[in-house]
Amino acid sequence: MKNLDKIIDGKYYADKLLKKVHPLCENFFLKFNRKICLAVILVGEDPASRVYVKNKLLTAEKNNIKSIEIILPTETSEDELHKEIVSLNEDMTVDGILVQLPLPKHISEKNVINSIDPNKDVDGFHPINFGKLYMGNPNFIPCTPLGCLYVIKNELKQITGKHAVIIGRSNIVGKPMASLLLSSNCTVTIAHSKTKNLKEHCIRADILIAAVGCPEMIDDTYVKKDAIVVDVGINRLEPSEENKKSKLVGDVNFTKVINKVKKITPVPGGVGPMTIACLMHNTVKAAYKNEGQNFIDILEGYL
Ligand code: GUN
Repeated sequence: MKNLDKIIDGKYYADKLLKKVHPLCENFFLKFNRKICLAVILVGEDPASRVYVKNKLLTAEKNNIKSIEIILPTETSEDELHKEIVSLNEDMTVDGILVQLPLPKHISEKNVINSIDPNKDVDGFHPINFGKLYMGNPNFIPCTPLGCLYVIKNELKQITGKHAVIIGRSNIVGKPMASLLLSSNCTVTIAHSKTKNLKEHCIRADILIAAVGCPEMIDDTYVKKDAIVVDVGINRLEPSEENKKSKLVGDVNFTKVINKVKKITPVPGGVGPMTIACLMHNTVKAAYKNEGQNFIDILEGYL
C-alpha cells in the first residue's frame, strides 16, 4: 500500500457524520421553532483553548446550531463560574453546556464539571455520564474518544479480540477510550507516564492510541507492523533553526512510523475534526432529549 493511502482523513469522517447531524438541526428548528443552542464557557487566555473554542463555534454556526460564547477573565472565581453554569442549567433554551478545559489553577475542574446539568453535559464529563459509560449504558460520550472509535470502526470493521493499547489515562481521553474499546470487545491496556517498559506494551498493540502530550515521542520502535495508530496529541513546536515557522505535531513521529503502520491519523487533520463533529452530535442529542423526544442515536451502530 502506498504511504498516502495509509493516512486517515479525519475531515472526511467528520463531514460524513455532520451530513447526518445537519438535517437533524434543520428538523429541530421546524419542529420547535427555535435553534438548537450550545453554550461554551472559556476562562482565561490559553491560546490553544481559544482556537479550539473558535473552531467549535464555527462548526456550530455552519450546522444551524446557535451558540452562546461566554469568555471570562483568568481571575474569575469558582463561585462566579458556578453562577454562570447554574444560569445556563436553568435556561430552557440552552441544550448543551461546555466548559473548555483546562481551567485556571485556582478553580476546581471537578467542582465545575459536577455543577453542569448531566442532561446538558455534551462533553460527557459529569460523573453520571462517566459512570453510565463505564456501566455499558452510555448517554453522552466524551467527544475525542467517540471520534476515535468512529474512525477505528470505519477503518477496521471488525475489532473484536484486537489488542488496543492506550497511552494516557486522562478523564478526557484515556479512561473513556478504554471503556469504549472494552465494550467493543477489545483487550485493553492503559499505559501512562509511570508505566514500566512502555515500548514492550505498545509494540503488542493492533490498535495504538497515543494521548501522552509529548511531541513526536512515539516512533517506529513502539509500533507493531500493520497496526492502526490514532494520534490524539496536539503539540505546537516553536520555530527553530530547522523550521522557521511554528508547527503542529502529534504524539507520534509520523515520518518514522508511516512505513510500518496499516493506517494512521495525521496531526492536524486527523482526530481534531472528528472531536468537533462528535460535539455537534452530542449537542443535537441533548436538544432532542431535552424536548422529550425519542432520539435515535446515529452513532448507535458504532458503540
Ligand atoms: N480540552 C481538551 N479537550 C477538551 C474537550 O473535549 N472538552 C473540553 N471541555 N475541554 C477540552
